[in-house]
Formats: sequence, C-alpha cells, structure tokens
Amino acid sequence: MKLHPSILSADFANLEAELQTISAADAIHVDVMDNHFVPNLTFGLQMVQRLQEVSALPLDVHLMIENVDRLAIEYAQLGVASVTFHLEASQNPLELARQIRDTGCQVGVALKPGTDLTQLKNLLSEIDLLLVMTVEPGFGGQPLIPEMIEKISEARKLIAARNYPVKLQVDGGVTASNIYQLALAGAEIFVAGSSVFGKKNRNLEINNLRALAQEGGMAR
Ligand code: DX5
Ligand code: ZN
Repeated sequence: MKLHPSILSADFANLEAELQTISAADAIHVDVMDNHFVPNLTFGLQMVQRLQEVSALPLDVHLMIENVDRLAIEYAQLGVASVTFHLEASQNPLELARQIRDTGCQVGVALKPGTDLTQLKNLLSEIDLLLVMTVEPGFGGQPLIPEMIEKISEARKLIAARNYPVKLQVDGGVTASNIYQLALAGAEIFVAGSSVFGKKNRNLEINNLRALAQEGGMAR
C-alpha cells in the first residue's frame, strides 16, 4: 500500500519546504493542469523539472492536459518515476503508452469518473498504473463520489482476470474515513491532497492513512 500526497494542496510559494513535511510518503503526486482539459492551471514542465531536482522522493506525475500525445514524452524524459495521462485526452493511447515506457518511465492511464472501464480495451497489457479518478479532475478538496468504489472493484477484477502487473491507483477525496473501503475494493496506491496537507503533522497522517489501507488490503 502506497501513499502519494498531492502537492496541489501544498503552499505553492514554499514547495521545497513543503516536501520536507511529507518525508514519510512513498512518492509525490504532481498534478499538471493546463486550464483546458480541466478548468484549473498548475505546474508546467520547468516546474516539474525543478521538483524532480529537489525531491528526495520519486515523482508521480498526473497529466490533466490536452495535446498529451505530443507533450507527455517531455515529462517522461525528466526522469520522474511515472507519467499518467488521461485516456480522454489521447488520440492514440496505445502508442503513447509505448513511447512513455520506452523512456524507462512507468506509464499510467487515468479515467475520469464518467469514463467506462471498457474504454481501456487492450491497454492493460501496456501500462503500469491504472488511475481511477474518484472526483471530477481539476480541484482538490472535493468529496469522493461513492459510486466510484464499485468501479474500483470492477477495475481490480479486470486486472486480476488476466493477472496484469498493473497497479491500481485512486485519486480524489481520499480520507481516513474512506481509505479502508478503497483498499478493500482493490486500490493499492492512494493519492491524498487536502487530507494530508490539512493536518499539522503530515507524516503522522500519511502513516495513519497507510496503516488503514493496509488493514483494508488485508481484509480483501
Ligand atoms: C484532482 C487531482 C488530485 C487532487 C486530490 O484533479 O488530480 O490529485 O489533488 O486532492 P484531494 O485529495 O484533496 O481530493
Ligand atoms: Zn491527481
């Protein structure tokens, strides 16, 4: 069970210091938004490059951008641990997944809440991560959409059916009150923004969330 705090909820004027407060995390989740694919704007390539230089932890980059077929590769080439793109934003997801993997970077595919798992078609054999969004992408601090728990179970079944080495990630509204259930449904990487950065002792909350996820995973 891995915990990836999202720095979308961090203080953007003090990111390097903010990273120090989440040293108990497994990786740092970086939300790249372009104000087109989602109605919000965050980091670009240069910012992610600097984060990669100063972060002691691996970066998990979540691209919420248009023209991702052209742009994703530039993020992968920064040496980040993984690059996840939205299925809805790509013209040729299979080709893009292969290109990202060729750089040595792990590749993930993200699905908005309304995008059906059947849209994945033959992608599961070509990716390392499947990101099931549990809120509409764009903003931190939204409540998890309860119907998404069933989608996570379905995604887990799909992965297990053919034993794909794909990790199942959830993003949006993850808190101490739902992480057990999410793990029970089959998630194993948890993105948490506001629930981690809203706490005074963030490392304590990271460890607390991970422990709850482990309990849920064990009960599965
Ligand atoms: C939303 C982003 C999330 C966001 C999650 O579009 O992809 O990573 O930071 O924030 P919380 O955990 O506050 O819902
Ligand atoms: Zn995200």
